[in-house]
Amino acid sequence: MTFLSANIHRQAALIVTMFSRISIFCKSIDIFSESVDLRKLPEYSLKEVQEHFTPQDCWIIIGDFVYDVTEFLRKHPGGDEVMLDYAGRDATLAFKGVGHSNAALKILNQYLIGILPPKERIYLRN
Ligand code: HEM
Repeated sequence: MTFLSANIHRQAALIVTMFSRISIFCKSIDIFSESVDLRKLPEYSLKEVQEHFTPQDCWIIIGDFVYDVTEFLRKHPGGDEVMLDYAGRDATLAFKGVGHSNAALKILNQYLIGILPPKERIYLRN
């Protein structure tokens, strides 16, 4: 019984940590989005992003923004394979889970090509 309740507490603490990390990430995405005029960014749907899933043509989504990271794959300090796991898909949690630095966020910004349409956004306030 004590073991069970200690386990539940541990899991609850993990969930709280996870959510607070996601919310910190969302704030940094918010800061980003303030520096970008969202109306000028082309919109790409999840379906369109999915079509770019190869090493020669690799798009990923982080925090509702769409990035063409084809050029960056071979420059990534963590290697191309981890990024290719998310080719054509949402990599927000994986990107955040690694605890990338602010320098990584700046690099990311160079590859921004678009944004998801409002109805497909999860992180940004519309
Ligand atoms: C365009 C998106 C990405 C950019 C710009 C980026 C950038 C970077 C940078 C600059 C580093 C060096 C450490 C740091 O400054 O934080 C790094 C390390 C790393 N990245 Fe990424 N990254 C991206 C996507 C991803 C994704 C989707 C994953 C998947 C899990 C990932 C996994 C890692 C890992 C595991 C390391 C650690 C490498 C090591 O310390 O040996 N990255 N990344």
